[in-house]
Formats: sequence, C-alpha cells, structure tokens
Amino acid sequence: MIAVTGASGHLGKATLNYLVAKTDANSLVAIVRDPAKATDLSDKGIQVRTGDYTDPASLAASLAGVDTLLLISSSVVGEERVRQHTNAVNAAKEAGVKHIVYTSATSPSANALFPAAIDHFHTENLLKESGLTYTIFRNNLYLDVLPMIIGDAAQSGQLPFPGGDGKVSYALREDIAEGLANALTSEGHENQIYEIGATSAWSFADIAAILGQKSGKTVDYLDIPASAYEAELAKHLPAPVVSLYTGMAEAIKQNDFNRPDSALEKLLGRQPVNLEDFLKS
Ligand SMILES: NC(=O)c1ccc[n+]([C@@H]2O[C@H](COP(=O)([O-])OP(=O)(O)OC[C@H]3O[C@@H](n4cnc5c(N)ncnc54)[C@H](OP(=O)(O)O)[C@@H]3O)[C@@H](O)[C@H]2O)c1
Repeated sequence: MIAVTGASGHLGKATLNYLVAKTDANSLVAIVRDPAKATDLSDKGIQVRTGDYTDPASLAASLAGVDTLLLISSSVVGEERVRQHTNAVNAAKEAGVKHIVYTSATSPSANALFPAAIDHFHTENLLKESGLTYTIFRNNLYLDVLPMIIGDAAQSGQLPFPGGDGKVSYALREDIAEGLANALTSEGHENQIYEIGATSAWSFADIAAILGQKSGKTVDYLDIPASAYEAELAKHLPAPVVSLYTGMAEAIKQNDFNRPDSALEKLLGRQPVNLEDFLKS
C-alpha cells in the first residue's frame, strides 16, 4: 500500500491522480488534515485517512498497513517543520512503513541562504539515520511560482529582482508529480537522491529576453539590491515570508538552484516542460 501525505495540496493531489491511473485505487491512501478537501480522491476509490504532522498518534494510525510513504514536506518553515517531519518519520517506523519518499529541495545545507533548505537538510539526515529505505526528491523551484515573481514584466518592460546572474533549473509541479508517481510504482530508487529539475538553467536576464520575444516588447532585467526587494516585500507580507523570499533570491544569486540534471527526464521518459514552453503558455 502507498500513502501520500499533503494529499489535499497541489503536489500530493497531483501525484495521487497519476498513481490512480497506474495502480489499483484500493492500494492508495491519501492522508489529509481535512477529509472534506479530498472528496475528489475518495470518489476515485482512494482511501482518505486523517493525519496531522503535529499529532503523532493520528499519523501512526493513518499509516496502518502502509509499505511506502510519500512524505510531502510541510508548508511551515523553520524548526517547527523539522519537528513535524520528525513526527512523521517516527510514526512511519511505528506503523511498519518500509520506504519513505521525501520531497526535499535543491542544495539542502545547515547554512543555506534559503531558509527552507535548512529544514530539508535536517529532514534528509533524519531519513538517512532512520534505518528505513528512503528516496529523496530534491525539487528545484516550481515553474508554477515564477509568475508571482515576474508579475507584469511583459507589459511594463521591467523585471526587477535581486538575482544577479544566478541561474535556476526550474521544474513544473505537474512534472514532479508524474515523476513521483513513476518512482513510487517502479524499482531501483532505494536510497537514491535525485536532483529534480530541468536539464538546463536560466538567469533572470534570460527570462526577460524570453518575455521580450513572446510579447514583442523590450523587457529589461533590473538587478536591484536585495535591500530594496526586502523593503518592497515588507510592505505586503509578514516577516517570516519576507525572509523566505529574500533568502530565496540570495540563494538564486549564488547559484544554489543552478542544478541541471537528467533525473526528472529519466523518471518521466521524456523532456520535462521547460521555462520557454511554460512562458509561452
Ligand atoms: N519547490 C518549490 O518551488 C516549492 C514551492 C512551494 C512549496 N514547496 C514545498 O513543497 C510542498 C508541496 O508543495 P505544494 O505545492 O503541494 O504545497 P501546498 O499545495 O501548500 O500543500 C501543502 C500540503 O501540506 C499539508 N500540510 C500542511 N501542514 C500540515 C500538517 N500540520 N499536517 C498534515 N499536513 C499538512 C497541507 O494540508 P492542508 O490542505 O490541510 O493545508 C497541504 O496538503 C510544500 O508543502 C512545501 O514544503 C516547494
């Protein structure tokens, strides 16, 4: 039996939709905090169980009979996320789960500039020390979040961002989901770490140039100071979110997300959707 946490979220739900097309729905478990958000999954015959990363007993109960767990990283950032992931790994051990597939991030490190990558570093270590079989998907930045960063650059002709000439090997969330479903239903991924992203990488100057080609207007990349970006974000967002995005920008600038790799292409058996395709659509 395969269970997926975060099944009410974008990546978990998309992965289950690929899984249900590949395997018997009776062998799939969707773990959610709120079953009302997963009626579409139960309509497909997937068992929906309640489990919360902050409630170890609920997690252990939701994992009864499960062999393989796709642990989708929690949406909080910081020490609380590591605590939640620790609960999930301990519950998996208690319930007799044999293999955990985990959604990590590019360049996990105790000293990462991108705050989320610090939590992933600690969770990866937890998995390696758990004694369970693991597979780690180091997911690069989602292409899906790029529109939020580029805003109306195609119309205004200006793309302000403090990314220097750092490059990113973005991946489409839907492609990651398909890659996860393929890995969860095939052999040979035991104790493997995959860099999940494109086989190329793009800078913000590249993005401005592509936007310019698509719109027929000149789009200039403005490599603004990090402090100006931070001040602008602080007008609209709470402090932890501001530090997440400023940290991400600094990490982009120092090429922490510049990790072209063919792992996703191999898992999909085709080229992943790339930045140019995505901006075209
Ligand atoms: N690579 C990237 O660019 C990128 C971007 C954003 C996020 N991420 C990471 O990737 C993960 C998956 O992405 P996504 O797009 O699917 O995110 P998402 O749509 O926000 O889904 C997050 C899921 O985590 C669940 N969750 C949060 N707290 C929980 C808890 N205490 N117990 C159990 N479940 C909990 C949420 O449940 P509810 O529906 O109940 O809230 C939701 O199902 C995110 O959680 C985040 O760690 C990566």
